[in-house]
Amino acid sequence: MSTAEPSNRSDQPKLSTKILLGALVLASLLVTLVIAALLVDVAKKQNEAEVPYFEAVKITDDTVDPAVWGKNFPIQYEMFKKTTEMEPTEHGGSNPTKQTPTATDPRTVVPAQELEREPRLVKLWAGYAFATDYREARGHEYMLTDQRLTRRVTEFKQPGTCINCHASTYTVFKEVGGGDQMKGFDIINHMSYAEATKKFNHALSCIDCHNPKDMSLRVTKPGFINGIKALKASEGIKNYDVNRDATPQEMRSFVCGQCHVEYYFKGDAKTLTFPWSKGTNIDQEYEVSKDHVDWTHKITGGKMLKAQHPDFETWREGVHAKAGVSCADCHMPYKREGASKVSDHQIKSPMLDVNASCQTCHKADAEEMKSRVSTIQNRFLTVMDDTYTAVDELIDDIEKAQKAGVAEDRLEAARLYQRKASFYLDYSESENSNGFHAPEYSLQILADATNAARQGQLALMGKKTEPAPIPLGTGDENDPFAGPDAKPTEQVSPLPSKLPASSTSPTPNR
Ligand code: HEC
Ligand code: HEC
Ligand code: HEC
Ligand code: HEC
Ligand code: HEC
Repeated sequence: MSTAEPSNRSDQPKLSTKILLGALVLASLLVTLVIAALLVDVAKKQNEAEVPYFEAVKITDDTVDPAVWGKNFPIQYEMFKKTTEMEPTEHGGSNPTKQTPTATDPRTVVPAQELEREPRLVKLWAGYAFATDYREARGHEYMLTDQRLTRRVTEFKQPGTCINCHASTYTVFKEVGGGDQMKGFDIINHMSYAEATKKFNHALSCIDCHNPKDMSLRVTKPGFINGIKALKASEGIKNYDVNRDATPQEMRSFVCGQCHVEYYFKGDAKTLTFPWSKGTNIDQEYEVSKDHVDWTHKITGGKMLKAQHPDFETWREGVHAKAGVSCADCHMPYKREGASKVSDHQIKSPMLDVNASCQTCHKADAEEMKSRVSTIQNRFLTVMDDTYTAVDELIDDIEKAQKAGVAEDRLEAARLYQRKASFYLDYSESENSNGFHAPEYSLQILADATNAARQGQLALMGKKTEPAPIPLGTGDENDPFAGPDAKPTEQVSPLPSKLPASSTSPTPNR
C-alpha cells in the first residue's frame, strides 16, 4: 500500500472507499446468493405441487408390476414406457444399431458398440470380459434384457450381484429373505447370475423409488443404503438412515445414486459395495479399493481395477450439486400433460429436451445451452484422446520391457502406475456425461491418468518417480468377472419368458 499517493492523503477517504468497496462486494454476493436461492426454490416449489389422483387399484408394498401402478398413475406410466425410444445426441443418448437375431440373442436393435468407436479399449481391458462387449447405455426399460444378453454374461460366469441395478429387486429380496430384504440381498449376491436372474421379471419399477403409501420418494436398494451410511459415518454422522434423514431435494438424486455409481463386489460373498467409506471423490474411491483386483491384465500382468459409471459421485463434484440442483431437475423435468404438471418419467438425455431441462433456471436460449454443453464435452473428449494415447503407450512399453528382460522392480512399479492410469481413464470413459456433470474435476482426472501413464514409462527406464504409486493391499483378491480362460458359464436361458423372438422393434423386458 502506498500512503504517498495524493488520493490517499488523509485516512478519511481511504476508509470510506474501503467501506464502499466492501459494501459493493457484500451486495453483489447477496444478489448472487438470492438468485441461487430463488433458482433452487423454484425447483422446490415445483416438487411440492400436489398431485391428486384417483385410486383405481390398491397398491401395496408387494406390488412390483409397473402396469398395476400405471392404473393409478397413467401419465407417469405412459412416459415411463417411452424409455424404449432410442435417439442419439451429439455425444450421448443412444444410437439404434441393427443386429441379425440369433438363437441366443433375439434382439434386432441394440445400442452402438463402444469397442468399435474406441478400439483402444480392447487393449486397455485385455484379458477381461469387457474387451468382448461394451455398448452404449439406453433407456431403463431395457436394463434386464441387455444384461442377460451381453456377451459379458452369456460367455462369462458372473455373480448374482449383477442383478442389483438391473431389475426391480425390492419385492424379490424381501421374499427370498423371508421378509428381510437385507437378508435376501445377501442370499442373491451369493448365487450365480444364471440362478439369480430367474427370480426377476421386471426391470426398474415404481416400487424401487416410491413408497406406495403416499408416493413419496424412497431408496430401496441395499447397496446405496449401506454406501451412504458409510459416507455419512466418514463425515462424523452416525447411523445415517437415508429414508429417515435425507431431505426431499436430496432424494431426487439419491434414487438415481442407487445404480449410477462406481461399485465393486466385496470378498467371497460378492457383496455389492460402493467405495465411499472415505468420501466419493476418485482419489478416495481408489484408495479404498486398494485391496481389490478385478482382473489380471493379459499383456502386462498388472493387477487391475475396473471403474463403472460414477455419475452420482461426479455430479457431487460439480457446481450444480453445490447449488442444490438434483439429477431429477435435469433428467426428469416437469412437463404439462393436460391439466396436470408431472415429472417426466421418460428418463433420458436432457439434450433431447433442453427447453424443459435447462430453461427452468437458465435464461439463455436452447441453442446457446446446447452449445455450452457441446463446448464442455468437446474439450473433455480432446483431452481424453491424449490420455488414451498415453495409457496405450505405457501398455506397449511394459510389453517390450518384459520381453527385453528389464528388472522386475521396474516392471512392478510400472504395473502399479498402469493400474492407476487405467482406473482413472476408465472412470472418465464410463462416466456418462462426457465431462458435463463436473467439467474442471473431470479434466483433472484425465490429467492425473495421463501423468500416471507417463510416470509408468519413466519407472521402466529406472528414473525416479513421484509420488510413488499406491501399493496393492493384501488379500481380498477376487475376480468378479472370471477371465477368458475360465470355464464357460453353465447354459443360462438368457431370454425373459415374455420376449417375442421375432420382434422388429426394440423389445423391453416385460
Ligand atoms: C444440470 C443438469 C444435470 C444434472 C443435475 C445431472 N445431469 Fe446427467 N447429464 C446432463 C447432461 C447435459 C448430459 C449430457 C447428455 C448428452 O450428451 O446427450 C448428461 C448425461 C447423463 C447420462 C448419459 C445420458 C445419455 O443419454 O447419454 C446419465 C446416465 C446421467 N447424466 C445421469 C445423471 C445422474 C445419475 C445425475 C445425478 C447424480 C445427473 N445425471 C445429474 C445434465 C445433468
Ligand atoms: C451398482 C449398480 C450396477 C451393478 C451392480 C451392475 N450394473 Fe450394469 N449398469 C449399471 C448402470 C447405471 C448402467 C448404465 C450406464 C452405463 O452403461 O454406463 C449399466 C449398464 C450395463 C450394460 C449396458 C452397457 C454395456 O456395458 O454394455 C450392461 C450389459 C451391464 N450393465 C451389465 C452388467 C453386468 C454383467 C453386471 C455384473 C457384473 C452389472 N451390469 C452390474 C449399473 C450396474
Ligand atoms: C435400478 C438401477 C437404476 C436406477 C435406480 C436408475 N438407473 Fe438409470 N440406468 C440404469 C441402467 C442399468 C441403464 C442402462 C440400461 C441399458 O442400457 O439397457 C440406465 C440408463 C439411464 C439413462 C439412459 C442413458 C443413455 O445413454 O441413453 C439415463 C439418462 C439414466 N439412466 C438416468 C437415470 C436417472 C436420472 C435416474 C434417477 C432418477 C436413474 N437413471 C435411476 C440403472 C438405473
Ligand atoms: C428412478 C426412480 C423413479 C422411478 C422408477 C419412478 N419414479 Fe415416479 N418420481 C420420481 C421422482 C424423482 C419424482 C419427483 C418427486 C419429487 O420430487 O417429489 C417422481 C414423481 C412421481 C409422482 C408425483 C407426481 C409427479 O409426476 O411429479 C408420481 C405420481 C409418480 N412419480 C409415479 C410413478 C410411477 C407410476 C412409476 C412407475 C411406472 C414411477 N413413478 C417410477 C422417481 C421415480
Ligand atoms: C434447478 C436449476 C438449474 C437447472 C435445471 C440447470 N441449471 Fe445449470 N446452473 C444452475 C446454477 C444455480 C448454476 C451455478 C450458477 C453459479 O453459481 O454461478 C448453474 C451453472 C451452469 C453452468 C456453468 C457450469 C460451471 O461448471 O461453471 C452451465 C454450463 C450450466 N449450468 C448448464 C446447464 C444445462 C445445460 C442445463 C440443462 C441440462 C442446466 N444447466 C440446468 C442451475 C440450474
